[in-house]
Amino acid sequence: MCGIVAAVTQRNIINFLLHSIQRLEYRGYDSSGLALIDQNNKFVRVRSIGKVNQLIKKTKNKKLFGKIGLAHTRWATHGKVSEENAHPHVSSHISIVHNGVIENSFKIKSFLKEQGYIFYSDTDTEVIVHLLHWEQKKTGKSLLEIMNHSLTQLKGNYSMVVMDSNNSSKLIAVCSGSPLIIGLGIGENFIASDQIALLSVTKNFIYLKEGDIAIVQSEKIKIFNKNRSIAQRKIITSDVQYEYIKKGKYKYYMEKEIYEQPKSIRNTLKNRLKNNETIYFSELGIKEKNIFSHLEHIHMVACGTSYHAAMVAKHWFESLANIPCDVEVASEFSSRKLAVRKKSFFVTLSQSGETADTLTALRISKKLGYLGNLTICNMKGSSLVQESDNYLLTKAGVEIGVASTKSFTTQLTVLLMLVAKIVSIKKKENNIEKKIVKILTILPRRIEEILKKNKQIQDIAKKLHNKKHMLFLGRSDQYPIAMEGALKLKEIAYIHAEAYLSGELKHGPLALIDKDIPIIITAPKNSLLEKTKKTIQEICARGGLIYVFSNEEINLETNITSLKVPYVEEIIAPIFYTIPLQLLAYYIALIKGTNIDQPRNLAKSVTVE
Ligand code: F6R
Repeated sequence: MCGIVAAVTQRNIINFLLHSIQRLEYRGYDSSGLALIDQNNKFVRVRSIGKVNQLIKKTKNKKLFGKIGLAHTRWATHGKVSEENAHPHVSSHISIVHNGVIENSFKIKSFLKEQGYIFYSDTDTEVIVHLLHWEQKKTGKSLLEIMNHSLTQLKGNYSMVVMDSNNSSKLIAVCSGSPLIIGLGIGENFIASDQIALLSVTKNFIYLKEGDIAIVQSEKIKIFNKNRSIAQRKIITSDVQYEYIKKGKYKYYMEKEIYEQPKSIRNTLKNRLKNNETIYFSELGIKEKNIFSHLEHIHMVACGTSYHAAMVAKHWFESLANIPCDVEVASEFSSRKLAVRKKSFFVTLSQSGETADTLTALRISKKLGYLGNLTICNMKGSSLVQESDNYLLTKAGVEIGVASTKSFTTQLTVLLMLVAKIVSIKKKENNIEKKIVKILTILPRRIEEILKKNKQIQDIAKKLHNKKHMLFLGRSDQYPIAMEGALKLKEIAYIHAEAYLSGELKHGPLALIDKDIPIIITAPKNSLLEKTKKTIQEICARGGLIYVFSNEEINLETNITSLKVPYVEEIIAPIFYTIPLQLLAYYIALIKGTNIDQPRNLAKSVTVE
C-alpha cells in the first residue's frame, strides 16, 4: 500500500529519496512522486505513474537540489491511477504526502471549493493540504498551531508528512491510523512508513504512537502525544540485517524467502530452547505463568496466510493442550456481535503488524472482556506489537515478496512453542514441552531435505502451468495447508484454486472432477492416511488427475503423480508440507512469467479495511 519517505538534512537529498521509495516498491503501488524545497525556497515536484524507475527517468537531467523533501508511492484509493493523483500534493507553500483514507473528504472538499480552492486531483490528500492552507490563511498561525484544529475535522486514517516552503528547516509528521517512524541520523533525520526505506542511512528508529505529532529538524526532534503534551519515545535499534533486503543469487525475493526458511526457523528458535527441554520467551519473561495459567479458551484472529497459521494452531491447542480454540478472519470478527467465551484469551497473528483488519479486531477485543491478549508478529515496532498487552516475535527477517512464505512457517514454529509452553503451565508437567523442543530442533533439517525436491516439483509445475483451475485437498491439520497452497497459487500464478476438506469432497465438489482440474493432495503418513487413500480412489474412479505429496508410496492408479517426500514427525507435518506447495506455486508462476514479488492488485501490507 502507500509508502512515505521524508528527509531533512544538510546535503542534497534527491538520490536518497529516489532510492528509498524504491525500497518500498514491495508494498505494492501504482504511481510515485517527490517534492523538494530548492535553494530559492520553492517547491520542485516530480510525479509519475508506473514504477519508480519511471520517476527516476523523469528526474534525470533536471539537476534537482534540495536538503528537505518528501517522497511517496501511491496505491490508488480515491481517484484513478494518474500523475495528477500521485503525491505529494501542494497548496501554495504547503506540500503533503499521506497514507490512509479520509472518510469525510467529500464534505470538506465542497466547503473548500466554496472558499475558492481549485482541485487538480481526485484525492482525499489534496483536501487535507487545502484545508491546512485555509486554516493557516484564516488564523495567521503557524502550521503546527493550526494542525490540531485541522486534524479534528478529519475522519479516517491520516498518517502524513507536511512540508512548508516558508519554513524549510522542519517537517511535521502526524501518525494516526497507519505507521510512521522517525529514523535518526547524524545531523539529519528521516521519516518513513517502513524502516526498510531508511536502513541505508540509520538503524535507530522512533516509532510514533497513535495520535502523535512530531516536528522533525536535522538536529532535533520534538514529539507531542495525542493530548498535545511533550512525549518521550524510546529509540529502538533495528536488528534487521541488510542481507535480507538483497536478492542475492535468487531471481525473486519469494524464491529467496522460500529457500531461507531453515535459517529463519533457526533464528526463531535461537535462545528460546533451553537445555534441550524448555521453551523460554524473553518477550514474556517471568510474566508467562500469570498470563496463561487461567485461560480456558483461545480466540485467534488474523487475515490471509496468518489466518491459515491460526487454523493449524487450533489443532495443536485442542489436541495437545486440550484447550478449546476458535479461529476467525479479522474482518469478520469486527463485523459481527459476538459472545466471548469464559476465560478466553485473545491472540492476533500478523507478519506486518499493520494489517488494518487485524488492528481493528484487537482494538474491539479490548472492550469485550477477554482475559488478556497477545500478538504473534514479525515486525518489532509495528502497531500490533505496540498496542497488544503481550507479544511474541517470529523473527523471520524482513519478508519482501508479497506472498507470505517464511513468515508463515515461523508463525507456526512460534505457535507450536506457545502451545507446548501453555501445556506445561496448565498441566504443571513438561513432557509435551520436552518432546516439542526435540522435534523443533530438527525442523530446519527436515525443511532442508524437502527443499531438495525442487527439481521434481519443477517437473510437476511444467505439467500444470496452463491449467485454469485446481483443487487442493487436505484433512485435519493439513486442510489449512491446502488453503495456503491454493492461496499461493491464486496470488502469484493467477490460477483459480480452491481448498477443500478431503472428507467433504463427496458432498458436492466431486461433481467437478475431470481431467482438466488437477487435484493436489498432501498426505502425511498418519492415522488419517487410509481415509485419504479412499478419497484418492474415489477421485481416480472418476478420471481425476491427482498429484500427491506423501512420505508413503502412493501408487494406487495410473492417473496419480506421486512425489515421495522425506519422513517427518507428525506434529510438524503442517509446516513441512507447506514447502512443496510454496515451491509448486512459485515454479508455476515462474513459467507463466508473472510478477512474482509484486503480483497484480496486491499489497504486502494491507493498511486499509
Ligand atoms: C498471502 C499474504 C496475505 C497476508 C495477509 C495478512 O500470501 O501475504 O494473505 O497474509 O494480508 O497480512 P499480515 O500477516 O501482515 O497481517
